[in-house]
Amino acid sequence: MQIKLSPSILSADFANLARDIAVAVDAGAEYVHVDVMDGHFVPNLTIGAPVVKALRKATDAVLDVHLMISNPDQYLDDFIAAGADIITVHAESNGDTRAQLEKIRAAGVKASCTIKPGTPVTELIPLLPLCDMVLIMTVEPGFGGQGFIPECMDKIRAVRQAIQDGGYACELEIDGGAKLANVADIVAAGADVIVAGSAVFGGDIAGNVRAFHDKFADGVKMAQWSK
Ligand code: DX5
Ligand code: ZN
Repeated sequence: MQIKLSPSILSADFANLARDIAVAVDAGAEYVHVDVMDGHFVPNLTIGAPVVKALRKATDAVLDVHLMISNPDQYLDDFIAAGADIITVHAESNGDTRAQLEKIRAAGVKASCTIKPGTPVTELIPLLPLCDMVLIMTVEPGFGGQGFIPECMDKIRAVRQAIQDGGYACELEIDGGAKLANVADIVAAGADVIVAGSAVFGGDIAGNVRAFHDKFADGVKMAQWSK
């Protein structure tokens, strides 16, 4: 059972993104998490499709693009054309989430849906057949460096159960507040893709990536689920 790390570049050096990504990937990071914020869906502004396009030229890494934007319908084509490998849309965003997921998949990109901490898993579970990955937000989206919301652990367990019950080939990612101290428990609860921003890019990037993988092994030993 492989657990993947998706370092969030929100906490990387924005003047040296290609360099920081290369260090993380060379140390074993499986994905690279790209947080797109529009200053409307969340109270913060980050980057758009042009940066994804530039990163696509700079790395072969799997670009895991998390859209925290009000109107995905307006921008999906741009992110697909930019070379995203995985695109995550929020169930709370405007538009028809099912149609958005279908459009992403039809373009040959992996489709993913996510819910904010206050949104129940019943919004996500019916979408599992349309998703290659689902993302449980474990902080309020908008900023790196926040604390993991403990109540989200039950949501991870519930979605893992639903994936197993339905036999879906769907990864379960979590995003926000993952640290070396809590990540084994998060994996044990059912997550198999871990986003970590501040805990990877704060300090020794390569050392942090390796330390996360060591903790993943601990979590797998504790896990009551398998795939
Ligand atoms: C929050 C972002 C996260 C964030 C994670 O809105 O979606 O990806 O960067 O950062 P940490 O790991 O520092 O909580
Ligand atoms: Zn994110």
